[in-house]
Amino acid sequence: MWGGRFGEGPGDVMREINASIPFDKRLWQEDIAGSKAHAQMLAAQGIISGADEAAIQQGLSAIHTEYEAHGVPEDWTLEDIHMVTETRLRELVGEPAARLHTARSRNDQVATDFRLWIRTAIGQIDGGLKAFQLALVTRADEHADSIMPGFTHLQVAQPVTLGHHLMAYYEMAKRDRCRFADCARRLNQSPLGAAALAGTSFPIDRSATAQALGFDGPMGNSLDAVSDRDFALEFLTCATQTALHLSRLAEEMILWASQPFGFIALPDAWSTGSSIMPQKRNPDAAELVRGHAGRIMGCMTSLMVIMKGLPLAYSKDMQDDKPPVFEAYDLLALSIAAMTGMVGNVAFQTGRMRAVAASGFSTATDLADWLVREHGLAFRDAHHVTGSIVKACEARNMGLESITADDLAAVHPPLAGCILPDLSVEGSVASRTSAGGTAPLRVREAVAAAQKELEA
Ligand code: ARG
Repeated sequence: MWGGRFGEGPGDVMREINASIPFDKRLWQEDIAGSKAHAQMLAAQGIISGADEAAIQQGLSAIHTEYEAHGVPEDWTLEDIHMVTETRLRELVGEPAARLHTARSRNDQVATDFRLWIRTAIGQIDGGLKAFQLALVTRADEHADSIMPGFTHLQVAQPVTLGHHLMAYYEMAKRDRCRFADCARRLNQSPLGAAALAGTSFPIDRSATAQALGFDGPMGNSLDAVSDRDFALEFLTCATQTALHLSRLAEEMILWASQPFGFIALPDAWSTGSSIMPQKRNPDAAELVRGHAGRIMGCMTSLMVIMKGLPLAYSKDMQDDKPPVFEAYDLLALSIAAMTGMVGNVAFQTGRMRAVAASGFSTATDLADWLVREHGLAFRDAHHVTGSIVKACEARNMGLESITADDLAAVHPPLAGCILPDLSVEGSVASRTSAGGTAPLRVREAVAAAQKELEA
């Protein structure tokens, strides 16, 4: 394709390091779509003849059918997906194929293909995240009243509802989808027509190709169009953030499935066994989601480091932009599917969760709040009094729910003969009705709002 000025072809290692076809063949559909749009525009502008365009279109359609049926041939001598397809086009339609590359370079071609590919990938991820949200909302609805311990420092802090806990991840997924949508909006500009770096002397119509490919319009600067990969990095940062969220839920699933917690039972379909310990039921899927988050982050880091020192415009380093994006996409799509399946299918052990929620003086804050509300103490004083009560209970090995008015009066005399507060975990969660709070009432509202959002 470019051999005119060379006496001999590249050596074996040169060929090997140069070949991107093993991975960029994933761009085949976008590459054909880009070429079709370009050919149509060239003919409309009178740059190639209508007959040439017809031959090109028919050849590209035939190649589409071939690739679909048999895959993309991996010919290293042809370097990349652009050359492989153009070479095949030449075999199929002859001379008109050689006119396709008029007013175009692989530099704007690959930038176009990659933007199109990521746009489609974002659509897939969005669908996956929506299914994940649906699973969360369904389980949250089921468990709007179920009580579990809320933790800070992984110490029992205050009782919360399981539905509320699950809906926290709904909110995270909502922002993740929003970030991806924003990325898709910003990347939807066409590099096609930037040619190698400077634009072209042919009378091309960049708006026409942009429109044909579903872009909002052509990019404004040819150097920028062929040399930035911020859209790929943005995709990777969105993927990383999403993976971080999934990884935290995965970590919780792993903890919850362990015997000391016993908060969930993994169904058979989401468990793996041990080859030596017959009793084992391991949460491998969640562990791999946690591991994959590390790899996805690595993909992001790797492209950032590839790009950081590159002068404008195109450098071959940028061919290495694709493997991390493909890898991150594959890992993320699988992670989302795995977490969706796990959330939808684990059996929550609500009795155990409630028992742990009631341990560790988890309603001490409710007692302090009661001292403020019913007995006019300042919160800091109420905190101190409650701390002394907890200390006394601890010494007597009893929980807060069994204290008497005399116990309270022993610490704070004005409480003698008082009517005791409700320090049950049920009373605690039911009282937390502030906006965004854990009360079952609020969880039901959040679930209803989420169901509406997902239907929209
Ligand atoms: N395979 C190349 C890539 O992915 C296409 C662009 C090649 N351009 C060039 N001037 N060699 O970056």
